[in-house]
Amino acid sequence: MSSPSPSNRAAWQQQCHTPLQIESTPYPTSSTLSPTQLVIKVHAWAINPADIILQDTEMAFVKYPVILGEDIAGTIVEQGTGVSRFKTEDRVIAFALGASGGPAMGGFQEYVVVDESLVARIPGWMPFEEGVVLPLGLTTAAHALSQKEYLDLPVPGSGTGTAKAQAEIGAAAEDGKRKKSVLIWGASSSVGSNAVQLAVAAGVEVLATASKSNFESVKKLGASLVFDYKDDDVVESIVKELDARGDDCVGIFQAAGYAAALQPVMEIASKVRSDLFVATTMHLVEGVVPEGVRAKMVFGSGHDHVLGVWSEFLPVALEERRYLAMPRPFVLETRGLEGIQEGYDVLKKGVSARKVVVLAE
Ligand SMILES: NC(=O)c1ccc[n+]([C@@H]2O[C@H](COP(=O)([O-])OP(=O)(O)OC[C@H]3O[C@@H](n4cnc5c(N)ncnc54)[C@H](OP(=O)(O)O)[C@@H]3O)[C@@H](O)[C@H]2O)c1
Repeated sequence: MSSPSPSNRAAWQQQCHTPLQIESTPYPTSSTLSPTQLVIKVHAWAINPADIILQDTEMAFVKYPVILGEDIAGTIVEQGTGVSRFKTEDRVIAFALGASGGPAMGGFQEYVVVDESLVARIPGWMPFEEGVVLPLGLTTAAHALSQKEYLDLPVPGSGTGTAKAQAEIGAAAEDGKRKKSVLIWGASSSVGSNAVQLAVAAGVEVLATASKSNFESVKKLGASLVFDYKDDDVVESIVKELDARGDDCVGIFQAAGYAAALQPVMEIASKVRSDLFVATTMHLVEGVVPEGVRAKMVFGSGHDHVLGVWSEFLPVALEERRYLAMPRPFVLETRGLEGIQEGYDVLKKGVSARKVVVLAE
């Protein structure tokens, strides 16, 4: 006789403007999985700004009730018939697609269904609470840097960065010329920490902004020059630096800072002599983008072009310690799903170079 399925519980967002509610929810047995799906028993969740935004703000693309949560780490307990890269008991991180994939795929539950394409094994030495900081930050940064419609850099595994971009970066390196560069605004954030590392892996020099207290950690990720975004003359200093470099900068990625970061970033783009494209994590409302500036919000509606980052680049780079799981986790004392709402409240107050993480047990 087969053993009974474990029970499952989830933190539901029943509707907007209400706290999370923990309720039982079906355990996803292997017979309910499509061939490429697997089930992860969660050991750690990380909380993202999107989760807290969707608790307080209605968005057209989200239908309540919903199980949110994008970042999970845990062990594989069930898999579909076509899963090829993993086996049960593997220690992994995954990008959960609760808002678009339906309740079984929401991250904030004890057993989560994910597609194997957005799963990566983590090294044996890496604790779950460290690996779990990566999924959404990594995927968003990979979209922004690698896609032709954004910064078009040859991020390893992305299969993109057009031939022209690759050739330019390669030629600069071969001639011993100054490397191509990119400006990452908000580099100590979750998205920014990943953007710095992916840009370095793509072969470009990184100029960055962060608070002074985070300069060292941003440099450790590979940035060569860091500016304090709180300095009164930060815009002028960056424009001066970029103009001195001629046309070697490929563009700007506003990785963090909400609406407050858009104004200085747009000012830089409109003041520098070269034509710099701006990729943003923020929605661009009318009037924000000055005339003559090209800018677009990053939105990963499909993930096909970043799958190689997950399957080829990340597991190897983590194992070889060429890629760091940053920002560092801020692990709550409260464990289990009961800690998630508490984690929301911590993130709502704001964090500096930390990712709020809740352990399952
Ligand atoms: N469009 C998408 O698909 C997508 C996906 C994921 C996230 N996002 C958005 O991306 C943004 C970043 O998310 P996250 O998870 O990376 O955030 P986060 O880690 O929580 O951001 C915290 C960091 O923001 C930095 N920061 C605060 N104000 C800043 C400013 N005015 N300029 C520059 N940096 C500033 C702080 O740097 P210091 O401590 O150094 O001061 C802090 O380390 C959020 O707005 C989020 O909603 C969008």
